[in-house]
Amino acid sequence: MAMSKEAMLEKPTKRKACEMLESSEQPSPNTMDKSPQGQEKNRPTKRLAKADSKAIKVANNLSTLAFKNAFIPSENLVYRTTKRAKQASTTAAPPQVFNIIFHEASELTKNQMYQCFNLIESTSRSDYESCATFGWHPRRKRREMSEDEMRYLLVYSNSSSPNPPKGCDNADNQTAHDEDNDQAKIQDGNLVAFLSFMLTHDSTPCVPVLYIYEIHTWPLTRGIGLGQHLMHLAETIARNVGVQKVMLTCFMRNTKAMGFYESMGFSKDVCSPEERVTRGRTVEVEYVIMSKEISAR
Ligand SMILES: CC(C)(COP(=O)(O)OP(=O)(O)OC[C@H]1O[C@@H](n2cnc3c(N)ncnc32)[C@H](O)[C@@H]1OP(=O)(O)O)[C@@H](O)C(=O)NCCC(=O)NCCS
Repeated sequence: MAMSKEAMLEKPTKRKACEMLESSEQPSPNTMDKSPQGQEKNRPTKRLAKADSKAIKVANNLSTLAFKNAFIPSENLVYRTTKRAKQASTTAAPPQVFNIIFHEASELTKNQMYQCFNLIESTSRSDYESCATFGWHPRRKRREMSEDEMRYLLVYSNSSSPNPPKGCDNADNQTAHDEDNDQAKIQDGNLVAFLSFMLTHDSTPCVPVLYIYEIHTWPLTRGIGLGQHLMHLAETIARNVGVQKVMLTCFMRNTKAMGFYESMGFSKDVCSPEERVTRGRTVEVEYVIMSKEISAR
């Protein structure tokens, strides 16, 4: 995930509308069944949506520890693998055990925030820059990363204590020297991947969802199942909280990430923008909103 819905101009408005509906006693236009038998059908839908919304409010008010105890199985906070990263040099194997630390945004140290930002910038800056709708705005990105209710799953290699990385070049332009540097960073126990998410309301109709804002792994820890593990963990949290969908946004040009999400069962959400024709010109969409239904516990 390389961008958030907040960055989309129409999105904040939509989200506010969802929150207003959530607190309203009136049936929401989104949850209204427009069929002739609508009245009868509306009630359970509305009750269900309200119950789910309450679950989100409760979850968002929990302390980090309480949230972790309630929704994150402790065994999922360690990832062990015998897989070897495709880009790893032949001289050193990547670490095989990774620890995942759960935090809310306000608890991230400056170094952790810096490492996460660096990772986003090194993997996705070019995607942002080539997207007319977004562009690359570091200050806006940092603000979004610090939003209330943003939560993080930070992945560390199981070696020494975390050190701040000194930055990383774009993965696609890596040299052997860069790879050595990356390997050194990993062996120093630096942040090797992270996923950030928020429990919120989205889609059409507007429902409680777990929205994945970011998922990034350093190049040398790609292809060993870390991304998949983080996505499964996000789904587990969503299921345990009781939301209906996991959602995310992906740049159309990021075909690798899109293939990754599709392999995990995600598909285009009903609220994803469509190509449109305006004044005889076709406006192509630059991003896709993807989602996966979460079955109840
Ligand atoms: C996308 C990303 C998070 C995936 O993480 P990862 O740790 O490399 O992925 P995993 O190792 O868990 O992949 C597991 C499986 O996903 C599937 N997969 C991964 N990439 C795929 C692709 N391009 N097409 C189809 N399936 C893919 C495969 O089944 C893979 O298993 P395999 O390697 O045994 O075939 C990572 O590549 C990344 O950080 N990319 C740069 C940042 C980015 O683009 N983030 C997403 C922004 S929207």
